[in-house]
Formats: sequence, structure tokens, C-alpha cells
Amino acid sequence: MTDDLLARHRAVLPSWMPLYYAEPIELVSGSGRRVTDAQGRTYLDFFGGVLTNMIGYDIPEIREAVERQLATGIAHTSTLYLIRQQVELAEKIAQRSGIPDARVFFTNSGTEANEAALLVATNHRRSHQILAVRNSYHGRSYAAMGVTGNRTWSASGLNPLQVAWLHSGDRVRGLLARLSADEQVDAAVEDLREVLATQTAGDVAALIAEPIQGVGGFVHPPDGLFAGWKKVLDEHGILFIADEVQTGWGRTGEHFWGYQAHGVTPDLLTFAKGIGNGFALAGVVGRAEVLESVSAISFSTFGGNPISTAAGNAVLDYLIAHDLQANAARVGAILADGLRSAVGNLDCVAEVRGKGLMLGVEFVRPGGSEPDPALTNRVFEAAREGGLLAGKGGLHGNVLRMGPPLTLTEEEAREGLAILVDAIRSAAGVAA
Ligand SMILES: Cc1ncc(COP(=O)(O)O)c(C=O)c1O
Repeated sequence: MTDDLLARHRAVLPSWMPLYYAEPIELVSGSGRRVTDAQGRTYLDFFGGVLTNMIGYDIPEIREAVERQLATGIAHTSTLYLIRQQVELAEKIAQRSGIPDARVFFTNSGTEANEAALLVATNHRRSHQILAVRNSYHGRSYAAMGVTGNRTWSASGLNPLQVAWLHSGDRVRGLLARLSADEQVDAAVEDLREVLATQTAGDVAALIAEPIQGVGGFVHPPDGLFAGWKKVLDEHGILFIADEVQTGWGRTGEHFWGYQAHGVTPDLLTFAKGIGNGFALAGVVGRAEVLESVSAISFSTFGGNPISTAAGNAVLDYLIAHDLQANAARVGAILADGLRSAVGNLDCVAEVRGKGLMLGVEFVRPGGSEPDPALTNRVFEAAREGGLLAGKGGLHGNVLRMGPPLTLTEEEAREGLAILVDAIRSAAGVAA
């Protein structure tokens, strides 16, 4: 029983690992975009295990690929031996990354992918100075936490890096809020020049940035801002790392990678979450010259193992064969337009933002920009009661986040939209 499981969970797992919902749920089965909990209630899933079940649940092509690998008797060999699926997946990712002469290193998680990117960047540049963005999240190791600009997710101040902070693309609050897109780009570039001149010793290794900040509540800068930054970075030889853990694989609809909205090519790109559709698969892609900057043995026991890369190949093949990027653009527009027209004008909604199937609604106290996490929580609970799972995020916990599987259909988008609109209106006390 779930109640019993909750007590057992609390007795044996650490309390700093949060559980969603006043009455936490156990998801016991799934199919397509729907999951069923231990009480037998079925939900439309608009969060996909934090944007990780990118294709959806119980997808035959992925299950069969994993089952084929299991049937060989080999679940694991270690990277001391050739792994056919790993090489095949690396070839596909290198080719799709947009990075010339690319090499791929596989890890188990986004944290490790960023850790590896930071390792090669700092080795390559012989500097431990890094530029990071406020309101970011990059993972839970010391270096990844060190470049995370969110107090709620910073569990330690110990940091192997020296970090200087740039402004995020927040349009609701902060120094660059309410500027026009062009003004924001100019101000952010000027800020970068000032930060380099005042907070660094000049020889900075890299800038790490998420094209759309995931944990940060889907805040994103105006298109082209990374190009403004990159011009300055190039003057100094500073590398650019795009953390595509949430934004990759066509989720933004308009592009395959989030960085492409800015007309730049990163030196390093990190990926995780969606590519495994639930199997532990992540990694970093980079120019050979940079990724080869490791002068010792460095290997990951499980990174890119036969099972996870069998899944990864099946996920990527499915994604491309079904053009899920185009689906994200089409179905995402239904959601975004529907949300904007139904709730965009409410006093308590500061912004409906995001791209493709990565959409957020930020809630504030009416008439200003004071965050309203309590209202956000009411909306979040009401959506669940209505049969829809969503996520929460933002620096102040006041953003509802939607990151459904990229296979979401138009009917499912409309169904979810109706639940969300009802949840927002009822939680905000607005008559239907
Ligand atoms: C943008 C981003 N980078 C890195 C990570 C860390 O990934 P993981 O939890 O797989 O270590 C996350 C996780 O949410 C993320 O959203």
C-alpha cells in the first residue's frame, strides 16, 4: 500500500530528496503518455520523469532493443572492450551535434556529463576559472554544484572551480528584466565584459549555460544572446559549454539543440535524461582537440554500457524516424497558445514561457512580481486531482513546468491543456 510505502520511504531514505504532492504517489505502470498509480488512478504525464521519458512509456521499439541485448546474456562488459552499440550511438550523436571533428564520452548522468565537460575545459585551458549563469542547475557533484546558481540546489559551498556569475534571461525580475530583447542582449554582453574585467584573472576556461534553464523554471534568454556572448568569449579563447540535458533532441521544436536558436556552435555539449528514455545514459560531445585534454586514464564503469546504449540507439532512431522535433513544435504550439489565451492575462500569471514541449507558467502575487509558490502548489495539486502530472521549478518554486514526452498527440495536448486551465483558474479563484 502506498501509505505504508511512504512511511518506509521516510524511514530509510534521506529527507533532502523531495517527494512530489501532499499525498505522494507510486507510479506502477505506464503506456504512451499515461501512467497509473498504485491506487489505480491514471494520469496524463506532462513531466515524463523530469523530461526523461522523452518517447513515452512502454514503447515497443525501445523495449525490444533492450530485450535483444539482454537475450545475448551480456548486460555489461565495461569500456575495456569494444561495445558495438556505444560506437554506433557515438557516431550518430557526433554527426548530429553540429560540432566539427566531434568525440563523445558517455556517462551515467547529467552531473557526470557536466563534470567531464568541466574537466576537459579546465585541462585544455589550464585554468579553473569558469563563467556560469545565475538561476542555473548543472548537477550534484562539487563542480556541477559549483556552477549551479540556485541556493535551493546548492548543498555545499565547497567548489573546485573559481566561478563568476552572469545574468540569466529572467524577464520577470532581476536587473535585466523588462528590457526589450535587443536591450537585454546588449546589457548581457556588456555585463560579460565587465565580469571578465572585474571578477576574473583573464584566463577563464569556459562559460557553461543551459539554453533554457530547467530547474530554473524554463527561464531563457532572447534568441541570439549566446552569439553576443560567444563573440566576447572568442576574443579571449574561452570555451562555450551548452548544457543540453533538458533542451536537446528536438524538445524545443524549432531546433534539434537549444544552442541553435543563438546561431553559435558550442565547443562542448552535454546530454542526459531523454536519450535513454529511462535507461541511465548521458555524456559530453566536444571538439577532439578539447575532449582529448585528459592526460590520465579516465573511464566510467557503466558509462555507455550495452543496455543503455541499446536503448539510446532505439530512442534516437525512433525520434528521427517519427520527426518528433516537428511534433514538439506543432503540439507545443497548441499548448503554448492555449495557455496564453486562457490564463496569460490573469493577474497571478507573470509569464507563460518556453519553447516546443518545454513550457512554464510563472505565478506571482497579483499586481507585481512577488513570487507566489503557495498558489503554484495549489495549481500543481489541482492538476494532479484533475488527472495531469506536471512539474514545479524556478528559483522561488513559483513556476509550473510542463515537459511531456515528445510523442504527445494533439488530442492529449488539448486534454492536458483543459486540465491545466481548470487547475489554474480554480486555484486562483477565477470563475470558469
Ligand atoms: C540542465 C541540467 N543539467 C544537469 C542535470 C543533472 O543531471 P542528473 O540528475 O542526471 O545528474 C540536470 C538534472 O535535472 C539538468 O536539468
